[in-house]
Amino acid sequence: MTTTGKPAPAASDKDRVVIFDTTLRDGEQCPGATMTHDEKLEVAELLDTMGVDIIEAGFPIASDGDFAAVHEIAKRSKNAVICGLSRASPKDIDRCAEAIKPAARKRIHTFLSTSPVHMKWKLQKEPHEVYEMVIGQVTRARSHTDDVEWSAEDGTRTEHDFLCRCVEAAIKAGATTINIPDTVGYTTPDEYFNLFKMVRERVPNSDQAVFSVHCHNDLGMAVANSLAGIRSGARQIECTINGIGERAGNTALEEVVMAMQVRSDVLPYTTGIDATMLTRASKLVSAATSFPVQFNKAIVGRNAFAHESGIHQDGMLKNAQTYEIMRPESVGVKQTSLVMGKHSGRHAFVHKLEELGYHLGANQIEDAFVRFKALADRKKQIYDEDLEALVDEEIAHSQDRVKLVSLSVIAGTHGPQRATMKLDIDGNVTMEERDGNGPVDAIFNCIKALIPHEVKLELYQVHAVTEGTDAQAEVSVRLSEHGRSVTSRGADPDTLVASAKAYLGALNKLMARRQRGAQLAIETERRIHSTEIG
Ligand code: KIV
Ligand code: ZN
Repeated sequence: MTTTGKPAPAASDKDRVVIFDTTLRDGEQCPGATMTHDEKLEVAELLDTMGVDIIEAGFPIASDGDFAAVHEIAKRSKNAVICGLSRASPKDIDRCAEAIKPAARKRIHTFLSTSPVHMKWKLQKEPHEVYEMVIGQVTRARSHTDDVEWSAEDGTRTEHDFLCRCVEAAIKAGATTINIPDTVGYTTPDEYFNLFKMVRERVPNSDQAVFSVHCHNDLGMAVANSLAGIRSGARQIECTINGIGERAGNTALEEVVMAMQVRSDVLPYTTGIDATMLTRASKLVSAATSFPVQFNKAIVGRNAFAHESGIHQDGMLKNAQTYEIMRPESVGVKQTSLVMGKHSGRHAFVHKLEELGYHLGANQIEDAFVRFKALADRKKQIYDEDLEALVDEEIAHSQDRVKLVSLSVIAGTHGPQRATMKLDIDGNVTMEERDGNGPVDAIFNCIKALIPHEVKLELYQVHAVTEGTDAQAEVSVRLSEHGRSVTSRGADPDTLVASAKAYLGALNKLMARRQRGAQLAIETERRIHSTEIG
């Protein structure tokens, strides 16, 4: 059984594609994506649970940290084959074997460059020397495990005759998987298709190994190239969560998996991946690497299931199939979100207000809709809180429970920075003094001391409304509570006062929302009660 509960495809299933995840090796290798030991373990555990067949856990010779992570992942893995990467030298291969030793199922992935440019400049070796090294590295790896993958680095820029000779030799020496990487992201789908066709047809023992695709995204074709390789007979895809990896990244796991799932009519292949875990995996890898996911990223971007245009929203509300080729739940997203903007229509507007707890009469809707359109002309994206403010603007201001009375701040090169603040809270004026790591931190600490609360500061942004040193500073603050956010802006010639106003504005909105939520609950309770009695 797979994690989805579906029967696992038989090993002989010719259309079963093996998912080889290299987030922890090729992904982690890219600048800035370094993960801590614990983060690597957490990512590996999730990959294992979601049905990844092979986890390339690292490059053990690279550092003691890499070795330790691969070793620990090997100990903990439950289902997946644990793989380590190694160059051609015996020392590399032996170190790799040592790292993966505790795994129930283990693989050594050993690679060597075969293209003229790599052999000449990187290896500084003649082709006949490289050929001998291929045999040596695979033989050495096979002395440690039966599961050996050999990669022809820069395979797509390798001369065909030489590539075929090396592949044949690697298989003869015991390689069970042959990977032909597009190391520099140079190939095109047709070319990659033909490359696999050519190798599989010309290499006499090609039927004794599984062929693998490994694509980089320098020209934005990694996913298309990988799928072309699969159509040409390869049965393993090397990929990473969110497509992270060297330079422009690797093939994105979530994209190839969903392409094969959604378009099974033209890509009739199966994987063992539980797709409902894709969003979780994306979030985990993004948090562990601190690499944000592009908003419009296929499958896992925050806009991947968001609809803004009025025509689209209207269609979606009538039937999701009008604009959705897969359900958000199929990749682990709870629901489609209708993002309000200038293209949104009345139908979506009313739906959104109802979602937010407003039930307006026809005239009020008309009024609010006109004002909403005017706002949307000025503002690209309308957040829920903008709509809330729009509907009860007057009330919101008159009902602000917290107002800034005064603020003074000591800042400069000699810390600690200190803020002294007076707030009017429900008519009572109170004062606090707090230090902070910088003046803004001191101000926010004051607010927290005066109004104890648990919220997450998601955004703090300062910009000048006009040019010049006397410009109004406009500060935006976004706070979130229980997964829902509110944003507020504060403007003042003093950036620090604007910061305090913005934070307090957001806090007031949160308090108003809580109050409205409580009122809604009381009303619902009352309605249920009167129905029961009636
Ligand atoms: O891109 C590449 O060629 C690689 C190899 C090590 C497989 O990552
Ligand atoms: Zn690579």
